Amino acid sequence: MGRKLLLEHIDVPGIETFDVWRKHGGYLSVEKALKNMSPDDVVNEVKNSGLRGRGGAGFPTGMKWSFLAKPEGVPRYLLCNADESEPGTFKDRYLMEKLPHLLIEGMIVSSYALGANLSYIYIRGEYMWILEILEKAIAEAYAKGFLGKNILGSGFDLDLRVAPGGGAYICGEETALIESLEGKRGNPRMKPPFPAVKGLWGCPTVVNNVESLATVVPIINMGADEYVKIGTEKSAGTKLISACGNLVRPGVYEIEMGISVEEFIYGDEWCRGIANNKQIKALIPGGSSVPILPAHLITKLATGEDRLMSYESLSEGGFATGSMLGSGGFIVFDEDQSVVRNTWNFARFYAHESCGQCSPCREGTGWMQRVLHRIVNGQGNMRDIDLLADINKKIEGNTICPLGDAAAWPVAAAIRHFREEFEWYVNHPEEALKRNYGMLKNTPTTV
Ligand SMILES: Cc1cc2nc3c(=O)[nH]c(=O)nc-3n(C[C@H](O)[C@H](O)[C@H](O)COP(=O)(O)O)c2cc1C
Repeated sequence: MGRKLLLEHIDVPGIETFDVWRKHGGYLSVEKALKNMSPDDVVNEVKNSGLRGRGGAGFPTGMKWSFLAKPEGVPRYLLCNADESEPGTFKDRYLMEKLPHLLIEGMIVSSYALGANLSYIYIRGEYMWILEILEKAIAEAYAKGFLGKNILGSGFDLDLRVAPGGGAYICGEETALIESLEGKRGNPRMKPPFPAVKGLWGCPTVVNNVESLATVVPIINMGADEYVKIGTEKSAGTKLISACGNLVRPGVYEIEMGISVEEFIYGDEWCRGIANNKQIKALIPGGSSVPILPAHLITKLATGEDRLMSYESLSEGGFATGSMLGSGGFIVFDEDQSVVRNTWNFARFYAHESCGQCSPCREGTGWMQRVLHRIVNGQGNMRDIDLLADINKKIEGNTICPLGDAAAWPVAAAIRHFREEFEWYVNHPEEALKRNYGMLKNTPTTV
């Protein structure tokens, strides 16, 4: 059995309540940090743990914290990014719904480390029922003296609030999130200045993902030295993966970083293989914005190597698969799935979600989805495939925020790895329309 640091007690009845959470070791990290450690000690512990941000980019959390400006007399803020809207990603939803006190505990320790006395959980607008779960848990934490004034007699004060999101994917981008929290339209800001210097209401701010903040709890409890023993050298610890698509057992899993992709797909403990005895055709390992990988690049069958579930192995730096672990939104395509149709479906999403500030993204995402629509509907030609690649280049790196890249990469990768399928659509328009080439069904269950 893989080690569980976050989901260990997930099946305990009543674990969402303060008393049951406490009985299972809940809030010990707060006691340890506030009574025995200075804020800098906590920052250093997180730095030494090698924790990398679980929101997608994998930026080292401790390093991000150490960038926080600390001018005298100016408040600092910690914002939890719970906007989770990336197609294929539903791990934060699971964590908050089942273990609200884990997130609250992580936020108390992290706020203490950063010197923040008012912190927010910015939660996706569609997760309203979880907002209620969190508010209930927060009220319990106040009542038990873990939030509010002078927590555990340490002199540290913290107020924690939950703010409903603006109902747009772009509000998950950290500066758009800040704008939205300030009551404005969620448009990303130009950087610099970075939020660590000028964030919420112009004050130094750290934005971290739900899972990143939850992971601070086991790091403080077990210590960085123990934590780094789990996972790989560059990807320490465990990671939540939300697995969906054509799998026997889709769901949210906690894996030790570094298990092989094959083991995760076929292992009994995890997804138990491809549904209906089909073959795997492709995989998107980190949410819809990361490049798709054809089966031969991820399984040892063709290459004699194991692809590993880690930041380095799935990126250019590792086995050069040219994808990313990203947010851990693991989307599996069986042999019957159409990469072209699914690429179009994702492109529609990004065109809809572009905030419209930057012309390359606003116009480019629209063009891409229209050209893809043409191909899917048997009205494309060979030049369209090159046109897509060209639009891609014009978006990539030319926008204020990475939504443009997130829209461009999947299309570029789909053409790079599945060009023949695009050409087949162009050459067989009638058949393409007739063929029962469905959209990938997202069938998440929780495990
Ligand atoms: C369009 C867009 C959407 C994003 N959505 C999310 C999100 O829902 N949750 C999240 O944690 N990070 C999201 N991010 C990344 C955040 O900007 C930020 O990097 C992250 O919250 C940092 O947390 P971490 O360092 O703990 O990973 C998004 C980025 C972009 C460009």
